[in-house]
Amino acid sequence: MPERAARVLLGITGGIAAYKGAYLVRRLRERGLAVRCAPTLAAESFVSPLTLEVLSGDRVYGQEYLARDGGSDGAELHVEAAQWADLLCVAPATANTLARLALGLADDFLSTTALMFEGPVVVAPAMHDAMWRKPAVEGRVATLRDRGVEVVGPVEGALASGERGWGRMAEPEAIVDAVCRALGLPEAEDEASVGPLAGRKVVVTAGPTYEAIDPVRFLGNRSSGRMGFALARQAAIRGALVTLIAGPVKLETPAGVRRVDVVSAAEMEAALREAAHDADLVVMAAAVADYRPRECAEQKMKKSGGDGLVLELEENPDLLAGLAAVAPRAQRVGFAAETEDLERSARKKLKAKGAHWIVANDVSRPDIGFESADNEVVVFGGNGEVERFPKQSKDELAGRLLELFAGEAT
Ligand code: CTP
Repeated sequence: MPERAARVLLGITGGIAAYKGAYLVRRLRERGLAVRCAPTLAAESFVSPLTLEVLSGDRVYGQEYLARDGGSDGAELHVEAAQWADLLCVAPATANTLARLALGLADDFLSTTALMFEGPVVVAPAMHDAMWRKPAVEGRVATLRDRGVEVVGPVEGALASGERGWGRMAEPEAIVDAVCRALGLPEAEDEASVGPLAGRKVVVTAGPTYEAIDPVRFLGNRSSGRMGFALARQAAIRGALVTLIAGPVKLETPAGVRRVDVVSAAEMEAALREAAHDADLVVMAAAVADYRPRECAEQKMKKSGGDGLVLELEENPDLLAGLAAVAPRAQRVGFAAETEDLERSARKKLKAKGAHWIVANDVSRPDIGFESADNEVVVFGGNGEVERFPKQSKDELAGRLLELFAGEAT
């Protein structure tokens, strides 16, 4: 740990969420971080440099300061600012600024300093959701991610236009957590979280399970884990305490989520017992293997030649069906991956597994499901409810499903 406070240079750009930038300064300061603000010209229409100066207790690289002091004694302020900071955070980050950062433009103080800066960068995009969905924006964001920039949010909610959508800046608390993580500082633990799921305990399982045949071989399936990870991410963004029990997948742990890695169905069952006993919601998005080899060979099996090989399999316990005993308080949700007769199979599973909800999807369609970024599902409820969710990104769908399961107020 450095002896001095870690230093955050906070770029604030010109969107209505800039007013939350002022609040973000406070939250960063409360966590013991030193903050200097760099509002763009457009941001100054939303939040005044004086407000930022008072809240940060430090200089503000606003237009007036830059015009007055920039380079007057030969000092180059972008160099000074970039060398001062341990981390650069841009919140809110408009579509324009994301593009400027991705392109490496240096057309104002913030972008020039960003180009100079060599430490970790966290950005919190905010814009109308039609803009957020544009390939032009997606491409810039992907470029920034590839370069190691941490992108927090956006989240779904009320937009400045009065509509609801996917483009609202992440809550300042989530941004502070991302900043602390990037600086290697502990995240807030005892602080009360905010959001519609604040205080709720959510457990999500995701990915496949691998059932060992011998030390190097296994039975598995093609589940990518993306739907479960999206659910965990969206639950955490909404303030829930989330445990994600993940089978073998190559996905990054979503921000603010406790992750438990498992391999087999038996390990997943043990992890569930541990994590789910006081859960409010358990979502079984994992594709748990129905069968496992009756025996796992101690040594790598050799080819014996001749007639092939017969593997004897035994059934794994059904984790969803056993959940009522493991997580008695929880809303229990299962997924049904079907290739035919979706509704009948899903209803059968709902009953047989004693779940409150079954999310059914047609895995025979190549454009949705397992490895795809999108999903389209029909949800069947224990009281006869049927809710259809048209094709959308797994993150978006995850948000909608959570609203349904947790009775979240919209
Ligand atoms: N599931 C489980 N434990 C298992 C198998 C499945 O908890 N041993 C859960 C999955 O996580 C999912 C739901 O049950 O939420 C449905 O899984 P699916 O494979 O679609 O259904 P199965 O019950 O395996 O039925 P079938 O394969 O015969 O369609």
